[in-house]
Amino acid sequence: MGDTVTFTDDRTGKSVTVPVEADNTIPSSALRQLDPDLRVYDPAFFSTASCTSAVTHVDGDAGILRYRGYPIEELAERSDYLEVALLLLTGELPGAEALQRWRQEITVHTYVHENVKHFMQQFHHDAHPMGMLVSTVAALSTFYPDAKDIFDEDVRHKQIVRLIAKMPTLAAFAHRYSVGMPFVYPDNSLDYTTNFLSMMWKVAEPRYDAHPVLSRALDVLFVLHADHEQNCSTTAMRTVGSAHADPYSATAAAAAALYGPRHGGANEAVIHMLEGIATPAGVPAFIERVKRGEGRLMGFGHRVYKNYDPRARIIKRTADEVFAVVGSNPLLDVALALEEVALGDDYFTERQLYPNVDFYSGLIYQAMGFPLEMFTVLFAIPRTAGWLAHWVELLGDRDQRIARPRQRYIGPGERHYPELAERPGP
Ligand code: CMC
Repeated sequence: MGDTVTFTDDRTGKSVTVPVEADNTIPSSALRQLDPDLRVYDPAFFSTASCTSAVTHVDGDAGILRYRGYPIEELAERSDYLEVALLLLTGELPGAEALQRWRQEITVHTYVHENVKHFMQQFHHDAHPMGMLVSTVAALSTFYPDAKDIFDEDVRHKQIVRLIAKMPTLAAFAHRYSVGMPFVYPDNSLDYTTNFLSMMWKVAEPRYDAHPVLSRALDVLFVLHADHEQNCSTTAMRTVGSAHADPYSATAAAAAALYGPRHGGANEAVIHMLEGIATPAGVPAFIERVKRGEGRLMGFGHRVYKNYDPRARIIKRTADEVFAVVGSNPLLDVALALEEVALGDDYFTERQLYPNVDFYSGLIYQAMGFPLEMFTVLFAIPRTAGWLAHWVELLGDRDQRIARPRQRYIGPGERHYPELAERPGP
């Protein structure tokens, strides 16, 4: 007996046997062979692989994360975000010349059209920077109409460069606008992350030189956030991309998904939660509330990781380096107490709930001076590389069609249109 699965339709007695692939997957065509109208009900894709992908491998049980085969620990230690972005996009770590060319390309595309700036200046004075980012990324499609030519490789490359290069500029502009500070233009003599910090914090000094430890720490966080296979926002990217929308529109959709508190918004929610708990003494009562179903322990749990998220481990180390420069975050003690209590509590261990990437990242951002509203924006900047890598992969995948899930219709059967006077209710 090989590795096969046999489905038998007891209504008809018909059987179909299909091989189980090495990655434990069976083709859904098996069910169509059995009965073309048979559906699998799988809300939130618990058991459904919607694509093949060679970008990122996550083994949630073993706590493994690899980009294009390289362990996240090695990339976080040895690489930087721009190199990792190119790895995600092309599948290989670039040689010295290719890397230099890529850095140069990104550097010369960091500026945005002046009208993009004017566009951003029209938001309400207290607009959330993430809302500004989502809308402005979508608006970029109107500045680059050539982007619609998604099957021209050169055109596609140009948009990828533009998006990765301009994301920090848009992010910093969103922040500056929300605090009423003038926009700082990119300084192309600086590296990617240091340039972002300059656009964030520069005031009147001729050149803003970020502390190298902070710049490196942020870059490590960018590496850790660059991709995470088929999460909610990447699925949004692929879904919109499958309709052959331009990459700006698809990236805006992905960023909109990231904005949600169950996804990229969780790091902001973690800080709100820690501030609410206030002191380590408040932890036991909070845990009891979570166990009663009154809210969630934000920064804990993951659809795929049923073990410690490997990114959380690296972030915890990075936090120590940042705190050594800027002083500790008073909420760290609350977080550590929370982690200790949760990891020793059956409720969390039985459900395999461990700290995820967001549990400690917010503490670092806060210690570095980023306002809470910027946290998800800080996630969106690096995730752009991952979204685009999946978009490119999707466009080259001959198995893919426009994303179009089936539903189980549970609404009424046919009804006839009643006159206004005949309708129930006021
Ligand atoms: N606190 C308390 N209970 C939880 C939590 C949590 N953070 N997460 C899951 N559970 C419980 C949940 O109530 C359920 O219990 P029961 O079986 O008794 O009903 C069980 O664990 C399974 O939860 P689920 O909601 O079915 O799991 P999911 O895979 O759909 O959700 C998740 C994954 C990440 C949305 C969820 O764990 C969560 O809401 N965590 C808090 C938000 C968070 O930290 N998100 C960041 C995720 S990592 C970065 C990213 O993807 O952007």
